[in-house]
Amino acid sequence: MDDLNPLIAQARDVARLAYAPYSRFRVGAALRDARGSVYVGCNVESASYGLTICAERNAIFAAIAAGAARPFAALAVTCLDAAEPFTPCGACRQVMAEHLRPDAPVFIDGLGEYLISDLLPLAFSLDVGV
Ligand code: THU
Repeated sequence: MDDLNPLIAQARDVARLAYAPYSRFRVGAALRDARGSVYVGCNVESASYGLTICAERNAIFAAIAAGAARPFAALAVTCLDAAEPFTPCGACRQVMAEHLRPDAPVFIDGLGEYLISDLLPLAFSLDVGV
């Protein structure tokens, strides 16, 4: 848990950069890769609402584009504006299931640590050996 504190701090920091003029719901995610490097993402909304991308997927996609070492070791997520503890959406859980180690902690700010298998049991898999 203690070693997640820097990751949580980075998730909170990047949430301040969220582009969320429509929902005013600022989300941040910080991801630690297999070598200990950290990658962050925030939600980016679009005037064409359905084009919005969540913070968690932006962090995972940024990590992959930067050559990060998969599978990823830990993820922290936070929302600066939620009245109740915020939890990741189903689309992000699917992507997490494909890129996080099975034992990777998913730290949800205000709730605690979870495994992706708890957040998304029976995740879809193509099982193509990646
Ligand atoms: N959002 C995330 O960034 N992550 C989630 O897991 C759920 C929702 C964003 C998308 C949108 O910009 C705002 O929160 C409200 O749905």
